[in-house]
Amino acid sequence: MKAISDFGLGKLAYGGDWNPEQWDPSVWKEDISLFKAAGIDLLTINIFSWTLCQPAEDVYDFSLLDEIVGLCRAAGLKVCLGTATAAHPAWMATKYPDVLRVDFQGRKRKFGDRHNSCPSSPTYRRFAQKLAGKLAAHFRHEPTVVLWHVSNEYMGACYCNNCESNFRAWLKRRYQSLAALNEAWYTRFWNQTYTDWDQIVLPNALTVQWGERNTAMPALTLDFMRFNSENICECFRLEAEAIHREIPQALITTNFMGAYRGLDYRRWAGYLDIISWDNYPQPGQPPALTAMFHSLMRGLKPHQPFLLMEQTPSQTNWQPFSTLKRPGEMRLLSYQAVAQGADSVMFFQMRRSRGGCEKFHGAVIEHSGRNDTRVFREVSALGQELKQLGDSILGSTIKAEVALWFDWESFWAAENAMGICNQLNYVEEVFKYYRALYEEHIQVDLVGPGSELKAYKMLWAPVLYLLNQEVILRLKDFVRDGGILVTTYLSGMVDESDRIFVGGPPGPLKDILGLWVEETDVLEPERQNEIVMQRKTVGFKSCYKSSWIFDIVHPTKAEVWAVYGKDFYAGSPVLTVNPFGRGEAWYLATSPEDDFLRDFGRFLCRQGGVGPVVPVLPNGIEVSRRKGQDGTNYLFFLNHTQSLQEIKLANLRLKSLLTSELVVDSLFLKPWDVFIGKQI
Ligand code: GLA
Ligand code: ZN
Repeated sequence: MKAISDFGLGKLAYGGDWNPEQWDPSVWKEDISLFKAAGIDLLTINIFSWTLCQPAEDVYDFSLLDEIVGLCRAAGLKVCLGTATAAHPAWMATKYPDVLRVDFQGRKRKFGDRHNSCPSSPTYRRFAQKLAGKLAAHFRHEPTVVLWHVSNEYMGACYCNNCESNFRAWLKRRYQSLAALNEAWYTRFWNQTYTDWDQIVLPNALTVQWGERNTAMPALTLDFMRFNSENICECFRLEAEAIHREIPQALITTNFMGAYRGLDYRRWAGYLDIISWDNYPQPGQPPALTAMFHSLMRGLKPHQPFLLMEQTPSQTNWQPFSTLKRPGEMRLLSYQAVAQGADSVMFFQMRRSRGGCEKFHGAVIEHSGRNDTRVFREVSALGQELKQLGDSILGSTIKAEVALWFDWESFWAAENAMGICNQLNYVEEVFKYYRALYEEHIQVDLVGPGSELKAYKMLWAPVLYLLNQEVILRLKDFVRDGGILVTTYLSGMVDESDRIFVGGPPGPLKDILGLWVEETDVLEPERQNEIVMQRKTVGFKSCYKSSWIFDIVHPTKAEVWAVYGKDFYAGSPVLTVNPFGRGEAWYLATSPEDDFLRDFGRFLCRQGGVGPVVPVLPNGIEVSRRKGQDGTNYLFFLNHTQSLQEIKLANLRLKSLLTSELVVDSLFLKPWDVFIGKQI
């Protein structure tokens, strides 16, 4: 079966955003020959050219696009076609001001940015959908167009009157009656009771007191975030439907942004044919964090590859320091994406623009336009390698046995809360647990509400802050059916309306966990406590440090594995396990030092029969395994360190996909080098 990501290339796609409309056509030919030289084969075009496609309300003109697509066709290059709707035309903003957003401060924006269209604007929706449909009708029979790219990095929110009335309509659908809404939002608090739907206003600076996150009515803010995510998703869906009406088999995506807070990508994922995302690690970002973002994106559709839609080949223009990727770094980061399940390596951008605010953003082709630059050489070398890899790993996927919970609703609700969560950074918190597993070379999918959990043996779920009925049942089924669940402090706190569970934490998880939480202490970083192990189990130290948050726990059924070493709750349980059905549920009452998570993770994996991809590896080596449709294992070893590393392969026999060399016993990896081997 052909992989979804084949695109008629028979290899991993290689390319990126190309903006020829910013250049004289004489430059296009130069670009094309440089692309060919660099092994590039997929170009994302038409991302920001709405006005060129539709210079006036009733005028559609695809002649420039035809020319560009024609050039690609002639050169044997494939096209990822943008629908151009991430930045509306100036004429539209002037004639139909409803397309302009109102910002958090309540100010009506003017024309002059991208992502500035109001997602509720009837004008924006009508024109965006129409353009997508017309493009699809126009390119229906064009085999060069292999992928559709709707809009670009959807983001933000709008606080205009149209959004407000859409929000009210959304609330009416959700709650049916105002009484139900008042009940759900707990509006008797601070006299927030509504007696008419029209009294409900959007939570922006004109209504809230402490900024976007900490509002007086967190339930309202939470619903607004849900609404905003769905409302923007509807814009995506309208365009996708318009394309699918013309081309039922079209593959449609939009580029996500990793752990971007504003949109619940898990709810979006079902509407995309293939997930794609833009990876812009900060200089010095731990490789494990980048790996986690890939795992998050992969976990949205774990049974198929995703696409690396953008990365910079060299530097960005928007990070505080425009650090160049060091020689070899772009290659390493590209292969990291592939190792974690990507079937493409793509860049923003192909040629550095001359003007506009991105003129200092890195590109495959620099301002010099030369092919003898460091970046171009590195891009070309990688292009040749990707050709060599051919279709071997195309369509292969990662079969993780461990899942890690990442839920946008808990992300929102916990960070929006005032009180014991004030210091919580949800992404960093999840990352602590990811890193412990990553360092043990355990493959992990990030999952959440709606994810199928059957394939996993173990589920790590820190900060299960908000729980709805569906999630509660899913977690219970998972443990009952033999799964190992690990959860922590700040779990089972609120229901889907952000109301504390009656009876206190961990709410409906009390029976799975076999305990209840009486109080939660939150301390400045210097005031640490200890996790004192009660059992002399191999692999654990006797004592570990912990900090920040400390639940005072009472087991009802759970067995105690460790207790606090200090403070007035010294001796009370800090790590417990409770058998439930055929599985077991662990509770960690405090935020532990990394050593604890490493030892605990290693111990649990062994208990649960979950093995590392390769047992012991030097620090700084990332390993990953992708399984082909025919069952072949492909192993990736990435050296994230600056020194030569030796990797003991135990019984693995690997054939390098890049050099065909047979490797047994030991593998040597130079600084930042990569090995991709087929297991034989
Ligand atoms: C995002 C956008 C691109 C470009 C890059 C710059 O990923 O999608 O259009 O602005 O950032 O890093
Ligand atoms: Zn709006």
